[in-house]
Amino acid sequence: AGIKVAVLIGSLRQDSFNRRLARAVERLAPAEFSFEHVQIDHLPFYDQDFDHEYPAPCGTLKAQIKAADALLFVTPEYNRSIPGVLKNALDIASRPYGTNAFAGKPGAVMGASIGATGTALAQQHLRNVLAYLDVAVLAQPEVFVKFTDGLIDADGHIGVESTQKFLQGFVDKYVAWVKRFVAH
Ligand code: FNR
Repeated sequence: AGIKVAVLIGSLRQDSFNRRLARAVERLAPAEFSFEHVQIDHLPFYDQDFDHEYPAPCGTLKAQIKAADALLFVTPEYNRSIPGVLKNALDIASRPYGTNAFAGKPGAVMGASIGATGTALAQQHLRNVLAYLDVAVLAQPEVFVKFTDGLIDADGHIGVESTQKFLQGFVDKYVAWVKRFVAH
């Protein structure tokens, strides 16, 4: 039936380098894997009063996460952490208490930045949150991409051979990791 991956991208920017990175990784994955970019830009700010009656877009987000076999987080670093828009989506999909949509799913985190640290600090924060949310995050390899001109185009074509090889290595590990959790 195929393995479904919900992709959460921490940037809303039209020409996001992180969205390019996500597309590049998707191209390197085997055909049995399908990827859905989960929309997070229309969500309200999480409010604990929602817990009495969850707003429709928040319920849809949770259903999309629950329907996925695996997760992939691709995020920029904003001020040495994850962007608020991504944290908001994590908070929404984790609630009301006891109905965390992420629980037990395998996943991975990656990120691209124009800075030399390549989102390392943001990813460390994200790993902390995901540990609490019971996501089994792939430990290695870590993917810290310093984005440069021509590295990955808008369709996810990779322009540098060493990056292509490195990302293929990541995808191979990710695929094997996810398959440990998915009955097939
Ligand atoms: C940044 N950027 C950034 N880069 C970084 O390496 N570490 C950081 O802490 C920050 N902080 C930060 C804060 C804010 C508010 C913005 C807008 C940007 C730069 C960031 O790497 C760059 O804008 C990327 O292009 C963002 O990723 P997308 O949108 O291209 O996917």
